[in-house]
Amino acid sequence: MHKIFAAFLFLSYISISNSANILAIYTLASPSIRLWNTPLLTALATRGHNVTVISPEAQKNRVANLTDLPVDGLYEAIGGDMDFDVLHEATMFFWIKEMFAFFRKGCLFTLKSDSFKRLMEYPTDFKFDLVLMEPIGVECMFGILPRFGNPPIVTVASFPAPQWVLESTGTPSNPSYVPYSFSPYDDDMKFMERVYNFIAYIYTQYLYKYDYLPKMDREARNVFGPEIASVESTAQNVSFALTNHHPTLDTPFASAPNLIPIAAIQVKDPKPLPTDLQKFLDDATEGAIYMSFGTNVRSDKLSLAKRKAILEAFAELPQRVLWKFESDLPDAPKNVKISKWLPQNDVLAHPNLKVFITHAGLHSTHETIIRGVPIVGVPFVIDQHMNIRKMQKLGRGLLLEYKDLTKDTLLHTLREIIGNPSYRENIMKLSARFQDNPTSPLESAVFWTEYALRHKGAQHLQSAARNLNFIQYFLLDVIAFLLAVPISFVLAIYILCCRRKSTQKGKDKLN
Ligand SMILES: *[C@@H]1O[C@H](CO)[C@@H](O)[C@H](O)[C@H]1NC(C)=O
Ligand SMILES: *[C@@H]1O[C@H](CO)[C@@H](O)[C@H](O)[C@H]1NC(C)=O
Ligand SMILES: *[C@@H]1O[C@H](CO)[C@@H](O)[C@H](O)[C@H]1NC(C)=O
Repeated sequence: MHKIFAAFLFLSYISISNSANILAIYTLASPSIRLWNTPLLTALATRGHNVTVISPEAQKNRVANLTDLPVDGLYEAIGGDMDFDVLHEATMFFWIKEMFAFFRKGCLFTLKSDSFKRLMEYPTDFKFDLVLMEPIGVECMFGILPRFGNPPIVTVASFPAPQWVLESTGTPSNPSYVPYSFSPYDDDMKFMERVYNFIAYIYTQYLYKYDYLPKMDREARNVFGPEIASVESTAQNVSFALTNHHPTLDTPFASAPNLIPIAAIQVKDPKPLPTDLQKFLDDATEGAIYMSFGTNVRSDKLSLAKRKAILEAFAELPQRVLWKFESDLPDAPKNVKISKWLPQNDVLAHPNLKVFITHAGLHSTHETIIRGVPIVGVPFVIDQHMNIRKMQKLGRGLLLEYKDLTKDTLLHTLREIIGNPSYRENIMKLSARFQDNPTSPLESAVFWTEYALRHKGAQHLQSAARNLNFIQYFLLDVIAFLLAVPISFVLAIYILCCRRKSTQKGKDKLN
């Protein structure tokens, strides 16, 4: 907790802006998103701002000054069940397409919800001073902005910033060296990887600009009328983009001043564990293993063969195992304890913990880095492949593909990490530099959000790059012009000379 108090102490030195009305919108059907955004929303409410939140669920710990408008049924309607054997086979292109469909469904579901109606019933003179939102899946609602006084927009991305977020701040996202955010690459790309990276980049750009945004634009105009600003222009009019990246872990790239990294904002100082968990881990004299595939991937949906392989491997180990497993597991060996929910942040902090078996989601990866626990990553979707490859490359964990997961491979991987101290040493080094920041991520997020309030959207930090089209941005028009001048000059001379020569020749012939 002391970190959060320190944050408030620090922030109280900065002139506190007057209490503002803030609207926060989240439409993505993933429980981890609201969880990740909670510290910022709570901090803003505690600092006296009047925060209204539209999201799939209400905050568990109620706080004063925060009004939740939960959109019931969104997770069930859009989350859906995923088949692991299909998931791990899917290509990056399949995911890009699915992703945009997923964003669109979340937006439309929220737009038609009762909570959205309640928002529209706010008094007509009620104005918002700022809007916080995910940088995707909200565009169909942009038409509400004029109704609430065209407040500045701060986007908060719970995932690694995709190219349209970078571009909304004028940050270059050159695919020659910036790996596509949902690719498995790092910045050391081989030729064919760069080819693939470029194609993924172009494909995403195409889907976003020519398929996704026009569809959202039509939806928004249907609801709010034809006169609203185009959703594309609003999506580009962003005061700050707070994103879940960190320069020590992600590819270094040139960044605009209004792109603010706030990775690991969700991580709190560890609290004491519930008594049964504390005892289970304290008594693990040979060490303990923690396994969880996060909030979206349910362990009880693994195929029976995989489950059997995992349990047989665990039975042969001297370590104790804590497994986030969502239903009963009668055939679990004695050293395995299961639970539907586990306080991950506090479990990872236990000194007996040797290794974390994870889907390598971004939030879990950041949490394990801070606690210095090496990982075995079994990635399923989107950025998870990239996260575990980064960890493996620098010796902080090992990749185990789901299709390769057998009793023997799991045993081998776990024994390697537990037996070889270099994994722990490497992740401790990363942990130290990951936490070596001038301000905590929460302090940064609060500071820049209030900065946007104090300076009415801070238009002075918006890069002019946002207003250029592709041809202007890459100076193709200027290059064409500069080439055109000497070329026409040469051409003119050529034509003149040839003409003269040919007329000369003609004259010679006549003579
Ligand atoms: C709610 O906001 C008011 C100012 O608008 C502030 O004085 C109060 O401390 C806030 N309440 C809490 C519990 O943070
Ligand atoms: C805070 O916002 C709510 C709507 O979310 C409104 O009903 C309430 O009057 C506001 N409170 C203050 C102190 O402005
Ligand atoms: C851009 O956002 C500002 C608030 O930050 C708003 O005043 C302005 O009208 C917006 N401009 C456009 C073109 O949407």
